[in-house]
Amino acid sequence: MISKIEKMVIIPAKRRCVSITRDEAIFIYNFLRERKITETLEIGFAYGYSAIYIMSATGAPHIVIDPYQGEFDNLGISNVKKLHLYKRLIFYPDYSQIILPKLVLSGKKFAFVFIDGGHRFDDIFIDFYYSDLLLRMGGFIIFHDLVFKSTQLVAAWIKYNRHDYKFIHTSRGNLIIVQKCSVDNRAGNHFADFCLSPDLKNKFHNLVSKIGALLKISPKSIFLS
Ligand SMILES: C[S@@+](CC[C@H](N)C(=O)[O-])C[C@H]1O[C@@H](n2cnc3c(N)ncnc32)[C@H](O)[C@@H]1O
Repeated sequence: MISKIEKMVIIPAKRRCVSITRDEAIFIYNFLRERKITETLEIGFAYGYSAIYIMSATGAPHIVIDPYQGEFDNLGISNVKKLHLYKRLIFYPDYSQIILPKLVLSGKKFAFVFIDGGHRFDDIFIDFYYSDLLLRMGGFIIFHDLVFKSTQLVAAWIKYNRHDYKFIHTSRGNLIIVQKCSVDNRAGNHFADFCLSPDLKNKFHNLVSKIGALLKISPKSIFLS
């Protein structure tokens, strides 16, 4: 299946970095298969690369939200069609902040959410907020792009404020995985100050150093202060 996907999917070479890497896609594929997860939701579709791996892993319907498919020349949809997965794709061509509350109202629940939509802090935070309401107990959320400080801060907020979530270790430096393990029983006015935790800071430093080495530039010049 993996070689078929790699052969069939079209992503313009210059835009390859928009999608997750092949290694990350295979990691998510195995993650879902090992856990026999079938109820999946994804925010951020682009060329459909991650969606195709998710759908191939589960053999089940997959809900995807993205308002900008036109900006990707509808290649995401056409990639999914080429792999004969279109019947299982439930695609909402709209903003996650509009669709996610509607899914909550509908009573739908998921065992897995992949958050890779807008990458501003507020985009990611809102995507997490609603994904949490949609997630089954024991369910997982994977965030892409720990390389961005916005993603790191959402992860740090979860770490310090959401003790109902457990962080799952992954060697994939640009992914964060959390699992909902208990009930959110914070008081109505609860707030724990958050900043980058030492382990997230470490993970980020390692990632930035690797990128710096690859690009042959000083990590300092790409490090976000
Ligand atoms: C990094 S790309 C997703 C890549 C895809 N997950 C993959 O690996 O194949 C981010 C996507 O998020 C979408 N996006 C941006 N803002 C969004 C929003 N508010 N709601 C849903 N999707 C959004 C963009 O249109 C873009 O397609």
